[in-house]
Order: sequence, then C-alpha cells, then structure tokens
Amino acid sequence: NPIDFSGVWRFRELLPFAHDDQIITIGEGQTMLKASASVARYAGLNEDGLFLQYEGLNPSGSFKDNGMTAASTHAVMVGAKVAACASTGNTSASLAIYSSVAQKFKVVVFVGSGKIAFGKLSQALDYGAKTLQIQGDFDDALARVREVCTQEGIYLCNSVNPFRLEGQKSIMFRVLESLNWEVPDWIVVPGGNLGNSSAFGKAFMELKQLGLIDRIPRLAIINAQGANTLYQLYEQHGMRWNGGNYDLDQSTDFFTQMDKENRRASTLASAIEINRPVNFSKALRALDVCDGVVREVDDQQILDAKAQVGAGGLGCEPASAASVAGAKLLKSEGVIAAGDRVVCILTGHQLKDPNATVAYHSATDEHMDEKLSSHGVNTAPFSNG
Ligand code: F0G
Repeated sequence: NPIDFSGVWRFRELLPFAHDDQIITIGEGQTMLKASASVARYAGLNEDGLFLQYEGLNPSGSFKDNGMTAASTHAVMVGAKVAACASTGNTSASLAIYSSVAQKFKVVVFVGSGKIAFGKLSQALDYGAKTLQIQGDFDDALARVREVCTQEGIYLCNSVNPFRLEGQKSIMFRVLESLNWEVPDWIVVPGGNLGNSSAFGKAFMELKQLGLIDRIPRLAIINAQGANTLYQLYEQHGMRWNGGNYDLDQSTDFFTQMDKENRRASTLASAIEINRPVNFSKALRALDVCDGVVREVDDQQILDAKAQVGAGGLGCEPASAASVAGAKLLKSEGVIAAGDRVVCILTGHQLKDPNATVAYHSATDEHMDEKLSSHGVNTAPFSNG
C-alpha cells in the first residue's frame, strides 16, 4: 500500500482529512534521524546527545514534501485546476513535483527576482511549473501570490495553507518514533515563514492531549541575523502568544516601521531570507506550548555549521545549518545543557545550493592552497567560468 510506505500517511489517523484513495503520495517522509558525535562535539554537547533529522532525503530534497503531499491531496479533493506559491525555491520544487505526480492541476510559481538557488529553480522547471520572477524579494512575491490566488480562485500552497502544516506534523512523529517515543529535551529548527515551527507546536500539543507523550520538548527557532523578525519581536520586544490575546499593535507598529524604512531581509541562507513570516502568530503559540526560545545566527555561523554537518557525514543547505549553529549558541549561553538530548532539523539537501558551498570552501582552504602550491599544484578555486 503506497500510503503505508509514506512517512507522512503512515500517521494518517493524526491528520485525518482524506480517504486513502484520495491521497497523492510519492513516498515522502522516508527520512532518518541520525546521532552525530562530531556535530555534537562542535556544538559542545555530549557525543550521544545531538541528533540530525535529515529531511533532505525527501523526493524533492526538502522537508516541504511532508506538507505538500497533504496540500496537493486537498487541492485535488476540492477540484483545483491551478495551484500556486511564492517561494525561495524549495516550496516551488515540492509543489511542482506533486503536480507532475497528480496530473490534476497546473502550477504557477512566484519567485523574487534573482532570489532562488539554481538547484531549486531547475527542479520547478523540470517538473513543468510556470515560474515567474516578481520584482522584489520573497516577501513581495508572497504578498502578490496571495492577492492573485484570492482574485483568481487559485489554490495557494504556501504555509498559510493549513493542510500543509498537518503534513509537516509528521516530521515530529518520526523524530519521536526514531527515539522510541522518548521525548528529547530540545527541537531546534530554522525559522523562515515559520510553518515548520507552527506545525511542530501543533503536533506536540495534540500528542500530549492524546496521551501519546507525557511531556513536550522545548522548541528553539533559529532566525538568520538578516531575517530576524521573530527574534526581534519575541526576544527583544517580549511579545508573547498570551492565549491568543497578543498585542497586535506591537507587531503592527513593527511592520509599519519596516515598510517605512523599506527594510529588506538579507542573508546568504536564501531559503529563510524572509522578513514577514506568515505564520507569525501560530509560531508564537508554538513557542508558548513548547516553552520556546528564539535566537539569531549570522551567515558565518551558518556556513561554519553547515561545513560541520557535511564533514559529519550528512549534508544540508545553508538555511538548514542554522539549526546546528543555533544549538551551539544556546549551549554556549547555558540555555541548552551539555547533557541535553537535542534534535536539529536539517530542512534541505546539500545539492540545493551548491554555489554557497563551493564559495565557502574555496574561501577557507587557504592553508591547504599554500601547501599544494609549494608542490606546483594549481590551486585556483573552482568557478563556473
Ligand atoms: N529551511 C529550508 C531549506 C527552507 O526552504 C525553508 C523555507 C525553511 C527552512 C524555513 O521554513 O518557512 O517553515 O520556517 N523555504 C520556503 C520556500 C520559504 O519558499 O521554499 P519555515
């Protein structure tokens, strides 16, 4: 049964909205949790204390497939003929692959101009999605696609779509399953549009209500420094969920000011280069449920952590490594203790953004270059010509 083969739909009793014969699946969620002694040492944790949840193993190479199998199932259930998303690349690759599997709806993708890693763009094109460059960045593209979808009755597949978040809950089900349902101390996740963070909070809330777990792990959401809206509002302005009665004015002022200054997100971790996270209020709730913290890490910390993940036997794209950089930071602050069990989510595959990887290693191999040059080896860095 293809449904039981999926790492999402094996858990379909926990995301019940479709009959088995309606489900659009390509075996997503066959991912793994792996303990990494070397990455644990890097983060300052006990060698058996750090686990990497490797979502790059999904069919389109990122965690998005967990959600997109659910959103595309729902799109077909409601008879959608066209589905759309704004994307920094992974959402579009994922939506495009599900459209080519379902053969029931076409896909339009809105991308900020020049704001997509080539690996991701190539996927959307190969799977036949119409890919449009929108003047501006991801935040602009998302605002535009939401307008167009509302006006034209197009099915929207960004993480404002609640069915996507239902699917993404399964990442946490699998983490727990891999740990024999022993709840870890921390889940650390990169924060962009905050869909994952929201889905994880919902998953834990429901599992606890169902009596399947007896406690909820703490959640750490890691922003890139150049795209740190949640960090600023949660950690610096002290904004809280507060039972849903959060102070809307506080965030409205913040965003008005952001507009006034035309403040743009800017980070090399292009997947999370986002200033206006659509799941902001849901993420505040997740932080409340999971006694969460938010941190920011800079591009250097992200790239250094990414290289450690690669050297440790798994690979990931820059945005994913924010989780490992965040775990290291929180350990150095004493918020995470050396003996804690920590799960970092690696959200996207290493091959998604090869340029960032090659540039990083070309720039950091100077010592090696000196040695090799002394033997007459040409050490000019690789380039695309
Ligand atoms: N990691 C990767 C690799 C991503 O592609 C994204 C989001 C995130 C983390 C952030 O996840 O939004 O749930 O907080 N990428 C979106 C896209 C924006 O268009 O592919 P989030």
